[in-house]
Amino acid sequence: PPTRPLAGLRLLLTAGPTREALDPVRFLSNHSSGKMGFALAAAAARMGAEVTLVSGPVGLATPPGVTRIEVESARQMHEAVMTHLADQQIFIACAAVADYAPREVAGHKIKKTASDTLVIELTKNPDIVADVAALPEGPFTVGFAAETRDVEKYALDKLARKGLDMIAANDVAKNGQGFNSDDNALSVFWPGGRADLPLSAKSELAGHLMTLIADRYHDTH
Ligand code: C5P
Repeated sequence: PPTRPLAGLRLLLTAGPTREALDPVRFLSNHSSGKMGFALAAAAARMGAEVTLVSGPVGLATPPGVTRIEVESARQMHEAVMTHLADQQIFIACAAVADYAPREVAGHKIKKTASDTLVIELTKNPDIVADVAALPEGPFTVGFAAETRDVEKYALDKLARKGLDMIAANDVAKNGQGFNSDDNALSVFWPGGRADLPLSAKSELAGHLMTLIADRYHDTH
């Protein structure tokens, strides 16, 4: 097989968590490290793609040859993706996007009161990967699914519901893989096919997944 199967292609990825502000000093977020997305960006660049990485706040160095755009919230990530989508052949949504954000961001630090409870109202964030997949002339779109059970069932449901070209699912209930880990295992699904990538370092796994994505992209274009 060619060593640079993505030469001449532009590829956009999201990675890391998002932060949804509550007030000037607090936010809602999650434990995503960004490792899988950054490893995929590095692998894609090595395979010859022109890579743009839209990343939430993570403590990782930008891989060689990759253009990085930093965002904080899901809305900022959505806007950055839509702005940079033109002329992209492949989009990979690896970010752990917050599903909801506080409806209002307090202008000043929220003060503790005499009450033992505090209610925060949340509103749904845009679904970035679903919006990209719904574009009529959109890129080949790959999503991720982190599940704690019935991995295949939920992954196939998400593939169809979001209109994706491919989905990579991991079982986050298993120890030593997925969120914040250096290792991961993936089950990859596309319309009419499946591949299982066994537990390995995220850097190695990223190479195998990018090869699958490149193969599938070329099969359909
Ligand atoms: O629906 P769920 O969050 O499980 O789907 C996960 C997939 O959708 C991931 O690829 C993630 O990056 C993407 N996603 C997104 N925007 C959201 C929520 C999830 O792009 N608001």
